[in-house]
Amino acid sequence: MYRTPLIAAVVATGLAAGALAHGGATGIVKERMDAMDAMGDAVKSVTPMMSGAAPYDAETLRAAARTFREHSGEAMTTLFPEGSGGKPSEAKETIWSDWEDFAALAEQLGRYAEGLEAAADNGLAGSAGTGAMMGGGGMMGGDGTTGGGAMMGGGAMMSAEHIAEMPADAAFAMTAQVCSSCHERFRTKAN
Ligand code: HEC
Repeated sequence: MYRTPLIAAVVATGLAAGALAHGGATGIVKERMDAMDAMGDAVKSVTPMMSGAAPYDAETLRAAARTFREHSGEAMTTLFPEGSGGKPSEAKETIWSDWEDFAALAEQLGRYAEGLEAAADNGLAGSAGTGAMMGGGGMMGGDGTTGGGAMMGGGAMMSAEHIAEMPADAAFAMTAQVCSSCHERFRTKAN
């Protein structure tokens, strides 16, 4: 049951954050909040099927993966010009002092999203016919226990190909963990 805590974390990331008002943000800060919200909505669109509350649909997951990818990497980092922190933004100043780590996480999101799009066809770990994939799922649980900190070091970073071989729910959890890792480190806990 490695999935449950990860998915719970994802829901907390996507839903709680999305519910916050933009606080009157304008310009590039509003732009990046909108981009983040689009990703939050994408998370919301797949969470029910990951928890079994809705039937699994590969295309819905692929669409979410494309949304993550669209807003990852440089598309994301260009929305964080130096000096754009401060209220109403929740961006921490460490984004600019630790820029390489921040940019690496934005890149990682793109890579994992690419893998996730391909993994959509694998179905969920618990479903019939994906027994062979369980190895990947178990391994993923191992990574989860090392925590976000270890992933940040880059050592545990996986390739898109590797993510693509995972059951869809494991691939989704891995991708969503990139969101959480970056938020834990680079976003203030506002309110
Ligand atoms: C590379 C770092 C990074 C990654 C990866 C990342 N985020 Fe964010 N996210 C941030 C930062 C920083 C903020 C705060 C932006 C601000 O307030 O200026 C934020 C804010 C948000 C918000 C609140 C937006 C608002 O309206 O205030 C949501 C929702 C969100 N992110 C969802 C996601 C989701 C979902 C993912 C993954 C699919 C994700 N983020 C990936 C750094 C990241």
